[in-house]
Amino acid sequence: MPTEQEKQKRFDALKKIRDEVLELKESPLCLERIKNKMHPVIGEGSHFASIMFVGEAPGANEAKQGRPFVGASGKFLNEMLESAGIKRDDVYITNIVKDRPPANRDPTPVEIEMYAPFLDRQIDIIKPSIIATLGRFSMEYVMRRLGLEKEIEPISKAHGKSYEARASYGTVRIIPLYHPAVALYNGSMRSVLKKDFEIIKHYAEK
Ligand code: URA
Repeated sequence: MPTEQEKQKRFDALKKIRDEVLELKESPLCLERIKNKMHPVIGEGSHFASIMFVGEAPGANEAKQGRPFVGASGKFLNEMLESAGIKRDDVYITNIVKDRPPANRDPTPVEIEMYAPFLDRQIDIIKPSIIATLGRFSMEYVMRRLGLEKEIEPISKAHGKSYEARASYGTVRIIPLYHPAVALYNGSMRSVLKKDFEIIKHYAEK
C-alpha cells in the first residue's frame, strides 16, 4: 500500500502536468480548445495502476468532459475491460495528445512531438508494469520511446503481442492493441480486440 506521502507526491506531479497542458499556448490545439471552451484530457484512473492504456487524442465527447474514452470508443473499451475482469478504476487511461485535433483527424507528427513529453512523465510517475497501446500512433510512439523501434511492425501484425522494454524505473511490458474505434466500423474486429485483451489479463495476473 502506498503511503500518504507517496500518494501526494504522485498527485502533485500529475497536477503539474495538468497545469502545464492547460497553458500550452504554443500549441494550436490548446488555443483552439480555449477558444471553444473545451477541456484538455490529461488522463484518469489509479495513480498506482499497474496497467496503463495509451490512446491517440481526445474526441469531441472527451474534450467536452475532460475525460479519456467516454464516447463510443470508450463504451467499447469499458466492455472489453469488463469482459477481461479488469476494473476501469484500477487502471490509468490517457492519450499521447492531450487536446482534441479538429474534426477527429489523426494527430500530426508535430502534435505528437509537442504533447508526448507529458506522456513520458506520466509513465515515469505511475510506473506501470504493462502499457497497452490503443492504435498505431501510440504503439509506434511508445515502442520507439522505450527502445523497441527495430521491432515495430504494422499494427495488423503487432496487435496482441507482448514486448519487454526497459523504462526509467524497470521492466515494462508493451502490449499493442487495435484502437477500439476499429470495432465500431468493422464489427468482426470486436472479437479480435476481446481476444487481445486476454493477454493483458494474462500478464496482469503474473
Ligand atoms: N480516442 C482516443 O484515442 N482517445 C480518447 O480519449 C477517445 C477516443
